[in-house]
Amino acid sequence: MRKELTRLVEIDRELGLLGHIAALLGWDQETYMPAKAVAERSEQVALIETVAHEKSVSPEIGDLLAALGSTTASPTGAPDGETSEGAPLDARERAYLRVLRRDYDMNTKLPTDLVAELARETSLSQASWIEARAENDFPAFAPHMERMVELKKRQAACLAPGGMPYDALLDLFEPGSTESSIAEIFAGLRGELVSLLAKIAAEPQVDDSFLRRPCPADRQAAISEWLTGIMSYDRGRGRLDVVAHPFTTTLGEDDVRITTRYIEDFFVSSLFSTIHEAGHALYELGIAPGREFARTRLHAAVSMAVHESQSRMWENLIGRSERFWKHNYARLSELAGGGGASSPLDGVGLEAFVRAINKVAPSLIRTEADEVTYGLHIILRFELESELISGRLAVKDLPEAWNAKTEELLGLVPPDDARGCLQDVHWSAGLFGYFPSYALGNLYAAQFWSAMKRDMPDRDDRIESGDLASILGWLRSKIHEEGSIYLPGELVRQVTGTSLDPRHFAAYLDEKYSRIYGF
Ligand code: CO
Repeated sequence: MRKELTRLVEIDRELGLLGHIAALLGWDQETYMPAKAVAERSEQVALIETVAHEKSVSPEIGDLLAALGSTTASPTGAPDGETSEGAPLDARERAYLRVLRRDYDMNTKLPTDLVAELARETSLSQASWIEARAENDFPAFAPHMERMVELKKRQAACLAPGGMPYDALLDLFEPGSTESSIAEIFAGLRGELVSLLAKIAAEPQVDDSFLRRPCPADRQAAISEWLTGIMSYDRGRGRLDVVAHPFTTTLGEDDVRITTRYIEDFFVSSLFSTIHEAGHALYELGIAPGREFARTRLHAAVSMAVHESQSRMWENLIGRSERFWKHNYARLSELAGGGGASSPLDGVGLEAFVRAINKVAPSLIRTEADEVTYGLHIILRFELESELISGRLAVKDLPEAWNAKTEELLGLVPPDDARGCLQDVHWSAGLFGYFPSYALGNLYAAQFWSAMKRDMPDRDDRIESGDLASILGWLRSKIHEEGSIYLPGELVRQVTGTSLDPRHFAAYLDEKYSRIYGF
């Protein structure tokens, strides 16, 4: 490896360590930190992040990148070594330069005062949102949201001067995507979902009332323990803790932790959230870009949407499938009952259980939505946030616009803003451009799923016989191991042979729900 590259790896690994230290502070805050420790904890996090930001914009990085032939115009450096001294770079090294160049340009484009202002306003805005949601008081939150929209527009203008501001924000989460590329994908998706929903609504609704029978937290914990075991989530490299809002976090190359929550009268909530988060963790733990790039920026997921494709594949395509439960239902029923006590699944057959966990019904809350209506919740947010960022929609008019779109897409009218435009944390945290990742994740998952079937024709029989190791093996070799060598669009072509094609998802939903609902 050339000496400039060796030095870049050295700096990058230190940045990685700082990132993992910050993640550890965040994980502790969500799990075990005493409530009164929050004031100093936020200072600790701010200090680590300032140190990391300063390090990430150091001119030395820019000089090293330039010495290797990487410029804004040619982010991967000179492929043939003609314009730089020394040996030519191989494909992996050029991919590495590309991600470093992208991060460096992004970080150096943002003035420090804007970074600080965004950090400050985010914490104020989130605190205001928590209160406004509890009090159902949108006007109290509106000034913060206005400020947040202003700051995000400024951020977008710095990142892509003269470009479309919403495109710049989308690119932060899904590199290479634009408002128009996503709008095109979502237009087709919307048509599919709306027509499928109409077919489902014409059939008798499935009974899922038994899922509301009580199941104590310790039994749910036993179920989570068992599920993470059969998914091969390595407890030597991770752990499971309980929080208010489940997440996965990476604290080190061999330390990826998941969380869940136990709702006594809805045990499938923890069941699926554990599978979902373990799916994220398996991705992180499977990244292996080679010894020389271990713990560098290449040792990371491709994008938010690709990450979400992994969690949703485990949660929905595997975890809500009849084949998976054919092998595992007896054990679930046993664990849900505990030592001889009654189980919420007593007297419930496999078929009834599979139907219940796949019930489709429009609802107001995104995080509780089924696989069919989920995409409509995302389309709603995508359309509104692009209007907010482009200035076509004023913040004060958001509740009205939200309610109108909810009625248009889901046929429901939110009775209040708490169950309407105040339900999600994202906008209060400045995460404009994030929502589309969730829907794109479903689309990627279905397309990867088709490719897996092509490569492994007996995929379904393997799942039915309890062989999840070969599923994980395929995901690792095709998606996980490469880290962020590819951009999302490149990865999907590499693995499946075509660019992102929403028809895989539509076909998957059609096939599944025509069986569940019998049309
Ligand atoms: Co997720």
